[in-house]
Amino acid sequence: MSSSSSKLPLKPIPGDYGLPFFGPIKDRLDYFYFQGEDKFFEDRIHKYNSTIFKTNMPPGPFISSNPKVITVLDAVSFPILFDTSKVEKRDVFVGTYFPSVSFTGGYRICSYLDPSEAKHSSLKSWFLSTIASKHDKFIPLLRTCLSELFIELEDKMSEKGEANFNTLNDTMAFSFFFRLFCDQNPADTAIGSEGTSFANKWVFLQLAPLITLRLPKILNCVEDFLLHTFPLPSLIAKSDYQKLYDAFYKYAGSILDEAERLGIKRDEACHNLVFLSNFNSYGGLKTFFPALIKWVGLAGEELHRQLADEIRTVVKAEGGVTFAALEKMVLTKSVVYEALRIEPPVPYQYGKAKTDMVIHSHDAAFEVKKGEMIFGYQPLATKDPRVFENPEEFVGHRFVGEGEKLLKYVFWSNGRETDDPTADNKQCPAKDLVVLLARVLLVEFFLHYDTFTVEGGELLLGSSATIKSLTKATTI
Ligand code: HEM
Repeated sequence: MSSSSSKLPLKPIPGDYGLPFFGPIKDRLDYFYFQGEDKFFEDRIHKYNSTIFKTNMPPGPFISSNPKVITVLDAVSFPILFDTSKVEKRDVFVGTYFPSVSFTGGYRICSYLDPSEAKHSSLKSWFLSTIASKHDKFIPLLRTCLSELFIELEDKMSEKGEANFNTLNDTMAFSFFFRLFCDQNPADTAIGSEGTSFANKWVFLQLAPLITLRLPKILNCVEDFLLHTFPLPSLIAKSDYQKLYDAFYKYAGSILDEAERLGIKRDEACHNLVFLSNFNSYGGLKTFFPALIKWVGLAGEELHRQLADEIRTVVKAEGGVTFAALEKMVLTKSVVYEALRIEPPVPYQYGKAKTDMVIHSHDAAFEVKKGEMIFGYQPLATKDPRVFENPEEFVGHRFVGEGEKLLKYVFWSNGRETDDPTADNKQCPAKDLVVLLARVLLVEFFLHYDTFTVEGGELLLGSSATIKSLTKATTI
């Protein structure tokens, strides 16, 4: 719907920012401690009878200089954040604050650049061609890494009767991306088995202003002061980061040669590659795969039987796990999209209005002024009840057949699932890779196992999945 064709009533944006300093602190405490993120937004939608309203977003004082945002919380208004002719994506990758460049060797990394900055286009083109050049490794490498994960998983199940999927997945994901970009098993390098702890610490320090550790209530004030009031120093992760950097510098030589050929300085390219592999990629799969396993596990035995049937039949007919075979698995594909819809791994997106403009919800139009920050909490947009039936329910076959028409409302990659990443937009360059990897996870899982049960929980970022029982495959 364009602003000129809109017949919707133009309304003032409801909500307010409260008093300077106190308003943002009150909203921060509501968000982390008194309400929690979902209730924070749902309460305000109810109060203002609008999915577009004004509020402050954490962290606020003293980390972000301006916490004021205009929310977009429905499937119609959310995509304004993808239109880089209308919103500026400079330094908004994690929100209303910008972690110090000392986390990344003094460089502003691609994820923080607006497409109007020339550097964005050269770095993103380099990423897109690097990812494409690794195409032949995706399936066999992930299968190798998953077979290692399954051995650990079965060991844990027989030792303890349950297994935390998150820790197994962390090791697997770190190893997969390191091997993808560096052609080396991290265990055989100076990184050894410490890769996940180096990456976890470095990512945590950058995202701490957005995190609550869910400690007992009595400690809320202490936590709020320690995590949300001042930026944590990069010094804490300096030596860990240096080890990651040195390993990528040593082993990813051919990728860095290509960057230099494209005119990117070698050290800047390497800092970008460390971020790509350890923040974007490892961080992404760290949250997404446990969520996928949680939702599929909770969906129950009937879905597991259908997935196993589809996967085993297609693999047999196609003679293996190939790109063509994965393409034919309609239910498996739909299950992956459904997990990305119901629990988008990166829930927040930001963009600053480049000009005065009008944005729309289902019911009304609102004027946004140049310079105002627009913010989307994605889980509400992808669970919009006016687009998705039973939005809170995990429906495995939601995107099968006619359901494919709904893919344009799946936004996890910072773009529509029907759009493609380019050097000029801000959509995740690994959009197709992530979907492929998730399909391979399900395929390998249901080639090995018939069914499983899982207990879901909440973590600092995303979900936890504890596998409680596992039944080995009876037919192949
Ligand atoms: C489940 C895994 C992943 C998720 C959920 C995810 C999600 C996202 C999202 C939401 C954005 C846009 C953030 C914003 O600007 O607001 C993004 C950007 C980006 N992602 Fe991913 N991503 C994942 C995996 C990966 C992987 C595997 C790679 C690389 C191999 C990657 C590389 C990037 C890069 C470089 C950007 C910045 C794009 C730009 O500046 O134009 N991501 N990703």
